[in-house]
Amino acid sequence: MTKLSTNAIHGHEHSDEYGSHIPPIYTSVIYEYIDYELKLAKFIDRGNYLRYGREENPTTRALERVITKLEGTEDALAFNSGMSAISTTFIWYLRPGDKVVIPMELYSSTFVLLSNLSQKFGIKVEKVWPSAEDIVNAVDSKTSLIFVESMTNPTNRVIDLDYIFKHTDLSRVALVVDNTFTTPVILKPVKYGARLVIHSMTKYFGGHNDVVGGAVAGGKEDIMTLWDWRRVLGGILQPFEAYMILRGVKTLEVRFEKQSTNAKVIAEYLAEHPRIEDVMYPGLSKNPYHDIAKKLFEKPLYGGVLSIKIKGTYEDTLKFVSRLRIIKRCPSLGGTESMAVIPIKAPARFIEPEHRLKLGITENLVRLSIGLEDVNDLIEDLSQALS
Ligand SMILES: Cc1ncc(COP(=O)(O)O)c(C=O)c1O
Repeated sequence: MTKLSTNAIHGHEHSDEYGSHIPPIYTSVIYEYIDYELKLAKFIDRGNYLRYGREENPTTRALERVITKLEGTEDALAFNSGMSAISTTFIWYLRPGDKVVIPMELYSSTFVLLSNLSQKFGIKVEKVWPSAEDIVNAVDSKTSLIFVESMTNPTNRVIDLDYIFKHTDLSRVALVVDNTFTTPVILKPVKYGARLVIHSMTKYFGGHNDVVGGAVAGGKEDIMTLWDWRRVLGGILQPFEAYMILRGVKTLEVRFEKQSTNAKVIAEYLAEHPRIEDVMYPGLSKNPYHDIAKKLFEKPLYGGVLSIKIKGTYEDTLKFVSRLRIIKRCPSLGGTESMAVIPIKAPARFIEPEHRLKLGITENLVRLSIGLEDVNDLIEDLSQALS
């Protein structure tokens, strides 16, 4: 079986009459019907005809073949953002009266989306402590969906998917995993019974902070149904963006490895720093989620995101962040540039205040996404900002 980087580079399976290996950017929105009754068009794999740019695009399809191979599923769909992938999935899958179980720590926009859907369509959303045990305990006869992030945002708690897999009837309840933080380089949620795997490709897949995209990978039948919803909701990834991600994803494994090693060196440095109260990174052996991470992750890599608590007030935290020079004050993560964000102001904005308190998402918490710069330069930058 071919390995991840080989699939990332060759998995698009593009070939044409010129022998070009790189998939071209097909800008055409229209494709000619090949019969006189305007029914049949050219066939594209997945059993669809290539007719119109909101349904299929050959460049986007090439990327979908890569995603399919990386996640080890039967098929995949590319969307114009991570949120488009998530919202299309929820709108397809959820029905009035359903219950969704989620951890109380999730990406803010996913929270807002679920809360809006629950009010409009009578869906019950139960938020529990981000542990596999609490998630499993909350599942009842009304539960149709468990939605989790493989590593929670922003405090990097690792959810034990293996425990959920062993203690839930996943033939009745769909487990959907947002694998954005861990990527298939270290985690393949389908091994633990995930029915669908979701990505914000804006992060590690694209990898260069220059393209927004999302993906859902899963079984053939599910993806075909979801394809119909993507078609009518209009969330297909456009060809230029698909090309950018096809290019970016080729280096996913080397980028993820380097970002993870950089992050670990920085986590170890900050853990010993007198002005740091806490470092939340599962790559540290003292971290309470280290053992779960070691069990689930396929390599001893823990990603490029770590969160730290500054010893001091909110004003001190602002001062620290504003003094960073190489590390940019930006949202997002997983790209080549290192970035810092204060979670209460961005990714954790909509986590309920009492939940934030329990989770340790405090005013002095800073999330760092470590990029590909020289690690010594990054340490120097952090050191001067802390001093
Ligand atoms: C874990 C996670 N899932 C989904 C999303 C949404 O992705 P996008 O911004 O591509 O819509 C984000 C965005 O930060 C995220 O961090």
